[in-house]
Amino acid sequence: MPGSIIAGVGMYVPENIYTNNDLTKLMDTSDEWIQERTGIKERRFAHRTNETTATMGIEAAKMAIERAGITAQDIDFIIFATLSPDYYFPGCAVLVQRAMKMKEVGALDVRNQCSGFVYALSVGDQFIRSGMYKNILVIGSEKHSFVLDFNTRSRHISVIFGDGAGAVVLQPSKDDGSGMLSTHLHSDGNDAEMLAMYNPGSHANYWHKDLADFDDAELGEMFESHAMIDKYQNLPVMDGQAVFKKAVLKFPEVIMEALNKNGYQPSDLGLLIPHQANIRISRYVQQKLRLRDDQVYNNIQKYGNTTAASIPIALCEAWQDGRIKKGDLVCMAAFGSGFTWASALMKW
Ligand SMILES: CC(C)(COP(=O)(O)OP(=O)(O)OC[C@H]1O[C@@H](n2cnc3c(N)ncnc32)[C@H](O)[C@@H]1OP(=O)(O)O)[C@@H](O)C(=O)NCCC(=O)NCCS
Repeated sequence: MPGSIIAGVGMYVPENIYTNNDLTKLMDTSDEWIQERTGIKERRFAHRTNETTATMGIEAAKMAIERAGITAQDIDFIIFATLSPDYYFPGCAVLVQRAMKMKEVGALDVRNQCSGFVYALSVGDQFIRSGMYKNILVIGSEKHSFVLDFNTRSRHISVIFGDGAGAVVLQPSKDDGSGMLSTHLHSDGNDAEMLAMYNPGSHANYWHKDLADFDDAELGEMFESHAMIDKYQNLPVMDGQAVFKKAVLKFPEVIMEALNKNGYQPSDLGLLIPHQANIRISRYVQQKLRLRDDQVYNNIQKYGNTTAASIPIALCEAWQDGRIKKGDLVCMAAFGSGFTWASALMKW
């Protein structure tokens, strides 16, 4: 069965811009350190009460649906990728279904962090290929600002992330050679704790006895406890160097896997859209694959790392800027917490 095409793409980023200098008022950091280590100049943070992960996703979805030339009522399946959902449960996809007054269609949430959008795209593509659905809405959205700790103790994490959303509408290809060629999904759970947020959760230190500084009485109430908050153990953790080392191995590997599978070489790529984790990771991948500047899209300078939203935001901007034309070979690739990594190769 033919793969899916991206019939419409949309994005939404909050109005509030926070520059690196704004962050220096909250923690001990500098514009120079952040730009040199990550490439980030500024990021967007959602309005504290008027914007959520789901509402930003809905704005991006409206744009993607309009550009696909359909209406919300034509959508027959929703996939929502995020690590920062509005509720612990239910997921965000049902909030989109309700807010956009869609039919009682299937609504699925994907929990794959920075690889979430490519995983979601892959799931959607399989449903299109099987003939089960004809208009699938795939959203990646994050409101990181709500869980980031803007204190010097978390500066290596909080300067990296930003808020925003992107969305696409998948439809069956029209047999003109365009559409998804293949998707490739991977994981290595050995490093699950390298980039994670343990709490609130049900783990009670099952996986690692030394995960948190709690006594047995506290562990029993650990899903959400005052002790957890007092000890800052409700915050994300990241071993930045471990993430970096694995990312620079797995990005090129999973991109080459997609190219090899379809008989292409890096030089054939019209555009590579890597997950926007760190400009140094993107540049390393570019160098390793000997890609020209015009073959790689980066916008981390403006938005930071928006996790599941970074690829659809970049895709949307690249398309709007005329960087993707009919017939171009486009590769999307991601790496992140889990660890999970993934790629999707398509003819536009
Ligand atoms: C997070 C990252 C930018 C940190 O860069 P790094 O070169 O590894 O820096 P380190 O963590 O080794 O810290 C180096 C020094 O900078 C300091 N530092 C950390 N964050 C800082 C900040 N925001 N501002 C100023 N100094 C900071 C550290 O305290 C350390 O100081 P020390 O040498 O006095 O101990 C980098 O590891 C990275 O980008 N990793 C990948 C992360 C990622 O992509 N995550 C998302 C995955 S999808």
